Amino acid sequence: MNNGTSVQTVQFTQQEIKEEAERLFSKLSHLDWTMDICLVYAPITLEINRLKKEKNAILLAHSYQTPDIVYGIADFVGDSYGLSKKAQETSSDVILFSGVVFMAETAKIINPTKTVLVPARDAGCSLSDSITGEDVKKLKARHPNAPVICYVNTSAEVKAESDICCTSANALKIVQSLPDKEIIFIPDQFMAQNIAKLTDKKIISWDGYCIVHKDFTGERVDEFRKAYPDLKILAHTECSPSVIDKVDLAGGTEDMVKYVKASDSKKFMLITECGLADRMRVEHSDKEFIGMCNLCPYMKKNNLLNILQALKNPKPEQIVTIPEETRKRAERSLQRMFELTSN
Ligand code: 13P
Ligand code: SF4
Repeated sequence: MNNGTSVQTVQFTQQEIKEEAERLFSKLSHLDWTMDICLVYAPITLEINRLKKEKNAILLAHSYQTPDIVYGIADFVGDSYGLSKKAQETSSDVILFSGVVFMAETAKIINPTKTVLVPARDAGCSLSDSITGEDVKKLKARHPNAPVICYVNTSAEVKAESDICCTSANALKIVQSLPDKEIIFIPDQFMAQNIAKLTDKKIISWDGYCIVHKDFTGERVDEFRKAYPDLKILAHTECSPSVIDKVDLAGGTEDMVKYVKASDSKKFMLITECGLADRMRVEHSDKEFIGMCNLCPYMKKNNLLNILQALKNPKPEQIVTIPEETRKRAERSLQRMFELTSN
């Protein structure tokens, strides 16, 4: 494992390394990782876990992260909503966010006294990058009576210009909870179209999309249904309506996790980023996960070495900072979401 970063670790005994490799192997063998590979990774996960204790740090990881992160070093793994709740509740001094930058920014917005670290500063998101705070101001000027709901996959500036935030776990609930007949929903055009089908409200959308979810098609869903009649098909609501119309569950990643856990079915297709199916293969080794998934190049920018380096000696760009005025306004949008979804 070499990404050009040389990282010095403390010395662990052969026994400590063997036990750590066995711990990793007990999870990662479900994904065909060998004991030899786990032995290579073990000193690094040991060192990251030691440093977390030393620095009173919590490591929050999105379900799309690689399995060595999810099962080797994460303290909590989940979706955008669950991760932001954890970030809000933690008593740790440092939050290391293994996800994309907008997620780390969200943690900083709601927990400004903590040090929030992001291993890969260039872990963007095609949705977040599709819209600026200035764009939101112009939209509001064109539709002055419509409140703005922003998907959490947005920058702090966009959250600051919005009335309320939402995640994939609660987007429809937030839309329905507002009294207004007309709503600006940004920036995901597909999520906006999917919501528009479930509400009487007029949804004004933006032209953003997720590069991971936009290419899945309803035709491919039909092909898989024909080939595997007993397959349960779950899709992320960032997919287009042509997919969403044909699946057994449309939702966020945590909705899919809950569905798989509760279901008696044995065969699933998760139409989303590939990391989620890997997580499910480890956690439900009696079930089969087949078919469509894409990799998110942003999510996959994090790895054990840049996480170790960021924990040990963060570079200035790995420490999340947000101008206080922007942070306070963005926090209002997030707090409104928490208030509306707390029960
Ligand atoms: P979830 O909140 O559903 O995990 O989605 C985050 C994301 O980036 C989906 O592409
Ligand atoms: Fe953004 Fe899509 Fe990657 Fe999620 S999967 S971080 S929405 S680009």
